[in-house]
Amino acid sequence: MNRIELISTDNNKPLLFTKVEKPKLKPGEVLIKNKAFSINPVDVKTRFGGGIYGALKNEDHIILGWDVAGEVMELGEGVEYLSLGDKVFGMINFPGHGKAYSEYVAAPEEHITIIPAGISYAEAAATTLAALTAYQILNRHIKENDRVFIQSAAGGVGHFAVQIAKLLGAHVIGTASEKNKEFLMDLGIDEFIDYKKRAFEDSTKNIDFALDTMGGEVLLKTFGIMKEGGKIISIPTGISPETKNKALAKDLHVDFELVQSSGEDMYQLASWLKSGKIKPYIYEEFKSNEIELAHKQILSRSTRGKLIVSWDKD
Ligand SMILES: NC(=O)c1ccc[n+]([C@@H]2O[C@H](COP(=O)([O-])OP(=O)(O)OC[C@H]3O[C@@H](n4cnc5c(N)ncnc54)[C@H](OP(=O)(O)O)[C@@H]3O)[C@@H](O)[C@H]2O)c1
Repeated sequence: MNRIELISTDNNKPLLFTKVEKPKLKPGEVLIKNKAFSINPVDVKTRFGGGIYGALKNEDHIILGWDVAGEVMELGEGVEYLSLGDKVFGMINFPGHGKAYSEYVAAPEEHITIIPAGISYAEAAATTLAALTAYQILNRHIKENDRVFIQSAAGGVGHFAVQIAKLLGAHVIGTASEKNKEFLMDLGIDEFIDYKKRAFEDSTKNIDFALDTMGGEVLLKTFGIMKEGGKIISIPTGISPETKNKALAKDLHVDFELVQSSGEDMYQLASWLKSGKIKPYIYEEFKSNEIELAHKQILSRSTRGKLIVSWDKD
């Protein structure tokens, strides 16, 4: 039997913790015994009817979660590269039904990769959706010596974005509150902006590329710090045609991008983890019956790095 978390879209109802059958594998999938998984804002948004709820609403039960680290217990038909007992991690079926809050997770082989030696399950689980988001976007849009602006540089996506932008040779400017200054300086950020003390739009300029993690008014203010022809990728939600037109009038490009499951990109992250070039920061590790607490922490919008749930803590 399989212990899982089910969701309710009624804000007043708690997450449901129940038992269902272990998943049956489709061709190309492996069964992972979940050791640790990570919590993302999209989990909480989807739980309350936002995020990717629209894509999942016709499922019998929605099982939240996309980020998993664990051990391969069964191999589906046609699995080519993985073996029983392999320690693997990745972001499963995003944007679809990931079911990573389960004790056993069916994962397409092509969405996961091997955890490097010396990296814990918790560290691996932390280096998934948020890290993939940062990597996929920055790898597509930035080049050496670009001035790259990261909004919410200390958050789940942000702290990976700072490290990856530095690896790609950028000059990195980021926002956070004072308590995260030393953390970000240690990650190698070139310019730190305490957004609570000074408006970021008055604190920097000539930006080639900005990663917007806030949307709304903050996104509009970002226009003012960009170089002519600069690009902004905003990740919280889609961009209205009105906002796109305002950007075009200033010779700026603004788009929304959504992270995609990719074992190939996980392989790149794994090699950086192995060489110590990127390092996840784990703000708090929860037990599997403490997911409500983890969701509350995400809603506070004050998390440094990542939140992890470890089955081994139970
Ligand atoms: N499109 C995609 O594929 C995609 C992928 C991943 C995430 N997202 C979205 O991106 C957003 C960020 O995700 P995340 O995982 O990085 O969130 P997160 O870890 O919860 O972000 C928390 C961080 O936000 C910072 N913050 C809060 N208010 C701020 C402000 N006004 N200005 C600057 N920083 C501020 C906090 O820093 P302080 O504590 O120092 O204030 C904290 O470190 C969410 O909306 C998420 O759903 C989208």
